[in-house]
Amino acid sequence: MNILHLQTGLFGDQSVSRQLSDKIVARLQQENPAATVIDRDLINTPISHLDAEILLAGGAEAEQRTEKQQVELALTETLLEELFAADVLVIGAPMYNFSIPSQLKAWLDRIAQAGRTFRYTENGPEGLVKGKKVYIASARGGIYSEGAAAAMEYQESYLKTILGFIGVDDITIIRAEGVNLSPEARTQAIEVASQEIASLSA
Ligand SMILES: Cc1cc2nc3c(=O)[nH]c(=O)nc-3n(C[C@H](O)[C@H](O)[C@H](O)COP(=O)(O)O)c2cc1C
Repeated sequence: MNILHLQTGLFGDQSVSRQLSDKIVARLQQENPAATVIDRDLINTPISHLDAEILLAGGAEAEQRTEKQQVELALTETLLEELFAADVLVIGAPMYNFSIPSQLKAWLDRIAQAGRTFRYTENGPEGLVKGKKVYIASARGGIYSEGAAAAMEYQESYLKTILGFIGVDDITIIRAEGVNLSPEARTQAIEVASQEIASLSA
C-alpha cells in the first residue's frame, strides 16, 4: 500500500488536522506494516500558486521553456506521479475562512489537469483517477455539520466535489469540529475523532 499524506495545518504539533492525519497514517501502517508513506507538507514546502507561466509550461516546446517553467513543470509532474502511485490519500484539511487552506488549493490546481486526471467526453467530464481511497482529517473551529452555519461550509464539500471530479469518490471524513468553542470542546472533539481513527480497518 502506498500512502500519500498531505499536511496543511499551520500550527505544527498544535494543529488539530495534523494530529488527526498523523493518527490516520499510523493506523493504516498498523494495519499494513509494509505500507510506504510520502509526506507532502504543503505548509513547510509550499507549492506556488498557478500563474500563466506555470500553467502554460506543459504546452510549451521543451527548448522554449523558461527556467521557472522547467522547475515548476518538474514539480507538477512529481505531484502527479505521487498521486497516481498512491493507493490511499490522507489529507489533513483545516477549515480556514470557511474553506480549505490556499496551500491545499495550490496542490489541487497542479493536479487537476484535463487529459491527466480528468477528461471531457460527449457525456460530460469524466474523472481519470480511479481506485483510490481518501481519508480527510477535517478540523474546524465552529460547528458546520448541522445548524445555521451548515450553509457556510465550503471545506469538506469542496474537497468532495473536486476529488469526485477527478474520479475519487471513496472518501472517509474524520472530523473534529467546534474545537475553538472551548478547551473542553476541543479535547472532546479530538477524542471522538481519535476513537473513530482507532476503529478504522484498512
Ligand atoms: C486563518 C484561520 C481561519 C479560520 N477560519 C475558520 C472558519 O472560517 N470557520 C471556523 O469554524 N474556524 C475557523 N478557523 C479555526 C480553525 O478551523 C481551527 O483552529 C482548526 O483547528 C484548524 O485546523 P488546524 O488546527 O489543523 O490548523 C480558522 C483558523 C485560522 C487560523
